[in-house]
Amino acid sequence: MSARSREPMLILGLETSCDETAAAVVDANRRVLSSVVASQTDLHAEYAGVVPEIASRAHAERILPVVREALAQAGIGLGMLSAIAVGHRPGLIGSLVVGVSAAKALAWSLSLPLVGVDHVHAHLYAGSLDAADAPLFPALGLVVSGGHTSLYELSGWLSPRRLGGTIDDALGEAYDKAAAILDLPFPGGPNLDRLAATGDDLAVDLPISRLAKDSLDFSFSGLKTALLYAAKGVPGERAPTPPPPLDDRRRADLAASFQRAASRAIIIKLERAVEHASQRGVRYASLLTGGGVTANSRLRAELASFTSAHGLRLVLPPMHLCVDNAAMIAGLAHELLRGGAAGDLLLRAVPTAGV
Ligand code: KG4
Ligand code: ZN
Repeated sequence: MSARSREPMLILGLETSCDETAAAVVDANRRVLSSVVASQTDLHAEYAGVVPEIASRAHAERILPVVREALAQAGIGLGMLSAIAVGHRPGLIGSLVVGVSAAKALAWSLSLPLVGVDHVHAHLYAGSLDAADAPLFPALGLVVSGGHTSLYELSGWLSPRRLGGTIDDALGEAYDKAAAILDLPFPGGPNLDRLAATGDDLAVDLPISRLAKDSLDFSFSGLKTALLYAAKGVPGERAPTPPPPLDDRRRADLAASFQRAASRAIIIKLERAVEHASQRGVRYASLLTGGGVTANSRLRAELASFTSAHGLRLVLPPMHLCVDNAAMIAGLAHELLRGGAAGDLLLRAVPTAGV
């Protein structure tokens, strides 16, 4: 094989960290040639949450068909690939192991470089796929998903620095629990978002978490408990005032009020991060966002107002790249390879978050 064909031109990315089995082909210009996602939502719905053993078994069954489909949709064969990338941290260990093992097998049998990609960092990359060139750095980064709620500062793709994160529930987790309180079916976040569109967001005064004055961390467990009490009443109260009946009107108002408080809590921390940066003489050029909750309509609107008020470029992934996908893995792998960060076959699946 010539040296030229070894250049990182087409990367196959694999993603199996949670309950989506995904494969994608991305070229060196950030163009997504294919992005296939086999969701397991139906398998986990009856348990109202992801069951790790079911997830890893489904990944093992689906990973090869999903890879074949990604190659077919991109119109390429295995021989045209230049590298294999895999989301290898963080996530459910049994699920990660399936993707990492498949990626190792492909890289070894094709003699290609293997690139391990941090799933959370990859969410920050999703909005740059299929997008025009634009100056992004220094950037503020926000990942809000079912498993993560984190703020980053990035001077480039190779150097995300974590500024803060949730101290309890991730935002998506809080959305899913709030949806369960409101008797909405799994997956809760998108259903709550739809219901909120019909409610009054000022109907119920739910707490907006701020934490300590300079904190860039998040907390959503208090909001979730406040919603529970507003919906079902306060347990153990001496002279309990029964809450209003949980009819359709009330549920929509609670959904809208929850969404308002949750979105405000995010924006307050973004405001603080911009202020802290300016005290250090750093002026962000963009806000990079990603993760399932960036699909939320209220949050998208608030992020747009926030960035326009601060003169930041808002990099928001299109809906299909907000949730877990492998295009973001392959895309970031191009940047990592350019930065000389190729891994080897000793790459490990790591359940915990990195920096
Ligand atoms: O990024 P993702 O697919 O998986 C993780 O890496 O966690 O995010 C899934 C999360 C779920 O909690 C889901 O309820 C939430 O994103 N989500 C939403 C919306 N769409 C997905 N939450 C609020 N509003 C939405 N429209
Ligand atoms: Zn994710």
